[in-house]
Amino acid sequence: MALLLKNVQAVDPQLSLNQFCDIVVRDGKIVEVGQDLSIEKGETRDMAGKYCIPGLVDMHVHLRDPGQEHKGDIASETRAAAKGGFTAVCCMPNTKPTIDNADVVEYVLKRAAEVGKCRVHVAGACTKGLQGIELSEMGDMRAHGAVAFTDDGRGVQDSGMMRRVMDYARQFGCAVMSHCQDEGLVGKGQVNEGVVSTRLGMAGWPAEGEELQIQRDIALSRLTGTALHIQHISTRRGLDLVRAAKAEGLRVTCEVTPQHLFLNEDVIGADYNTNFKVNPPLRTQDDNEALIEGVIDGTIDCIVTDHAPHAPWEKDCEFEEAPFGMIGLETSLALIWTQLVEPGVIHLNRMIELMAINPRCILGVEKISFVEGSTADFTIFDPEAKWTVDADCFASKSLNSPFMGAELTGRVTDVYLDGYATLQDGEIVE
Ligand code: DOR
Repeated sequence: MALLLKNVQAVDPQLSLNQFCDIVVRDGKIVEVGQDLSIEKGETRDMAGKYCIPGLVDMHVHLRDPGQEHKGDIASETRAAAKGGFTAVCCMPNTKPTIDNADVVEYVLKRAAEVGKCRVHVAGACTKGLQGIELSEMGDMRAHGAVAFTDDGRGVQDSGMMRRVMDYARQFGCAVMSHCQDEGLVGKGQVNEGVVSTRLGMAGWPAEGEELQIQRDIALSRLTGTALHIQHISTRRGLDLVRAAKAEGLRVTCEVTPQHLFLNEDVIGADYNTNFKVNPPLRTQDDNEALIEGVIDGTIDCIVTDHAPHAPWEKDCEFEEAPFGMIGLETSLALIWTQLVEPGVIHLNRMIELMAINPRCILGVEKISFVEGSTADFTIFDPEAKWTVDADCFASKSLNSPFMGAELTGRVTDVYLDGYATLQDGEIVE
């Protein structure tokens, strides 16, 4: 099957490429990038006015499958990924049963191959059932395709256990991704601890509940030599710890979500909107500013969504009763475009590093680039499309977006995976 994309603006910082060109794809691979190209047989599509970039990867996504398919499943949430411009996601292990052994890894990979609309990489649990007590079957999971390990949703409380996890992960050549949460300090915390938790009369979750584990895990990375990736970083001081670790030459990386960049505790008002309830909690404006600075200066390596679908009936309750989490796959690129790239805070090249290049590098999966022979995974978007986030936008099974009603610029129109469209003119290709 041959495909010719005409008149795209192809951008790939790995090649210092930013030019109007045509791209020819054959049998899932790029065969030519150049001017005035043609093909004898196959499909030709005019992409004038659109950017074409290496396929986006979201390395922090909850697919909820197996076990919580009322929130989302591999079919629905990978469709949400395709709609958001992603050609790959890395799914978290807090499913039911937990992804803590090779059988569950195999189930996810097999199901994704059958019904998925993007590549699915699997993160295995560090400990059985995310309980922090017994090591999971890390070696077996790695042998069956797991790309990283995390107890995401919970912090590993015992330092000796986390050290063991890191020792094994290093032998298996992959990163430990750490959800940093000291349970003793966080307790039943609902929102960031400070003025707003006091005003709302809700249990506070101090920044230190995250920062202490960031500090500990950096120390353990130094001790073991293991690659450590800090998940959904949310505080200024946490980011300073990562910045110092990088300056020291440690193998430490981190990610941030659009919600922690662009929202803070002040959005939680008298309506106690549970779509603003997330773990770690929305912090302060000062933290927003520090995180944006980290995106600009390179301290932050990746933008992820922590896409966490929850059914409407689960979120439609008292704030204290609602589960933590927000969906994000379908709004991420547009939020980054609207808030950071279009106003000139970062260059498009940096967005591509954060959302396509660095996640592949940290997960150790195949690189995608606009060179002959590369796998044809692309994201194509219209930088001028204006749209408003509403319930009809979502392919996800759940609607718990904190950005409902937001007016955004930039929209994904087409996504190619192995040279085949998963999204065409904004519609999922079935
Ligand atoms: O808000 C969150 N929700 N944070 C997490 O770490 C887990 C996630 C979930 O699984 O719902």
